[in-house]
Amino acid sequence: MERTVYVNGSYVAETEARISVFDRGFLFADGVYEVTSVLNGKLIDFAGHLRRLRRSLNELALEMPCSDEELLAIHRALVEKNSLVEGLVYLQITRGAADRQFLFPKSTPQTLVLFTQARSLLENAEARRGARVVTVDDLRWGRRDIKTVQLLYASMAKMEAHARGVDDAWFVQDGMVTEGTSNNAYIVTREGTIVTRDLSSDILAGITRAAVLECARELQMKVEERPFTVEEALKAAEAFTTSATGFVCPVVEIDGTVLGSGEPGAVATRLRQAYIEASLNSAI
Ligand code: PDD
Repeated sequence: MERTVYVNGSYVAETEARISVFDRGFLFADGVYEVTSVLNGKLIDFAGHLRRLRRSLNELALEMPCSDEELLAIHRALVEKNSLVEGLVYLQITRGAADRQFLFPKSTPQTLVLFTQARSLLENAEARRGARVVTVDDLRWGRRDIKTVQLLYASMAKMEAHARGVDDAWFVQDGMVTEGTSNNAYIVTREGTIVTRDLSSDILAGITRAAVLECARELQMKVEERPFTVEEALKAAEAFTTSATGFVCPVVEIDGTVLGSGEPGAVATRLRQAYIEASLNSAI
């Protein structure tokens, strides 16, 4: 079935949607994006995604193209027009179309695109069996706190993981894990402490990360926000990742080393349940 997508003020069939060949998103990856998950036709943590979008735009001297209310209305209209029950809404803002030059063009209208993707999120085979990951050098740029569309190295790392017969890759910088290709990374020590890298320009401040850490604290789980080494991860009792579309996904193997029993761990399983419950309650 053909989707309806949103491009610069219009709702159009996906085959009719047009973007200029001069769009700086296309030529320079000069744009930012957000992915908001949808459960039961409702948006999960929309306010959080909007907050981070504003920050990403601000860091790149881009402007918010419309009001928060309009953005929410567009998200909701796309969910409705595409009869989306479960999946995601993808939003992208670029600096727009201008003759190719490295300097940012002055007063070019920005490009705003949104589309939906139907996907099963609650039932997720990887979350059920637990993901297997390998570590790879973090060769991305130094402003990973900005959610830019510059995802080529993340894509290459995920391709490498699949070529090595596993699900995903965790990035490593100076011996310390930064994050996953499209998720934040966590370990649970044998003493039961959840450890995840502290926020800085080294990682994306996951919206799911914030919500899951809140769930963990409510459940009286101990949380440490600090970098952890690959060695520490290999000795961990369990591990997991968080992202808008993966929620909390247990990790059962790192670089060929099986964690614990090789089954999704108790902490990750509990947090996945708690996060989904909280999200369903607060969805809009
Ligand atoms: N990725 N780290 C990176 C590098 C990411 O790309 C993502 C999200 C996250 C988790 O952020 P959040 O919890 O806000 O989704 C962390 C999205 C889902 C994607 O690119 O599809």
